Amino acid sequence: MTTQVLPEIERVLFTEEQIDQRIREVAAQISQDYAGRVVKLISVLKGSVFFLTALARHIEAPVKMDFLSISSFSNKSGAPGMVRIAKDLDDPIEGEDVLLVEDIVDTGFTLRYLLQALAGRAPNSLAVCTFLDRNSRRIVQVPVDYRCFEIPDRFVVGFGLDYNQLYRNLGYVAVMKPLT
Ligand code: IMP
Ligand code: MG
Repeated sequence: MTTQVLPEIERVLFTEEQIDQRIREVAAQISQDYAGRVVKLISVLKGSVFFLTALARHIEAPVKMDFLSISSFSNKSGAPGMVRIAKDLDDPIEGEDVLLVEDIVDTGFTLRYLLQALAGRAPNSLAVCTFLDRNSRRIVQVPVDYRCFEIPDRFVVGFGLDYNQLYRNLGYVAVMKPLT
């Protein structure tokens, strides 16, 4: 599923080679910044898992990993940004150097919620690494310490990102054709 471009795809935004190259660069930066420390990567299921495993393989500092999952929903007035933890981490993060690994930061609501929840557990440090950043749609300001790519205001799939749970396994990131 990695080389053939599907009919529902408008165009490939980032190829497997570009993604691999960029992840190596970001991992090198993380390795430098976390030298001499153990980094606990926390990944948000399911979209971030592809990025997490690719990133982790290139980080030279010792790495631990843990996972959580969230569900997003709208309140009665239809306002976005309501998030809750559906599956929590297995272990405490107190005193650890935590790097939250995200697939995409869009409005920022999800990240703000997660940062608040994790900061309350007294990690030694807490930083954010996102695969994609769509800064043009940001509603709440959130700190992003590492990003692989800035993307335009179009819905994208692949490398973990889904549309109705499909396309996560594409090796590239692509813009979907507008739905008819
Ligand atoms: P935020 O709370 O608006 O920042 O939402 C981030 C979440 O929305 C991500 O973790 C994704 O699950 C989802 N999302 C936002 N944009 C896209 C996209 O272009 N493709 C797939 N999922 C997206
Ligand atoms: Mg997500």
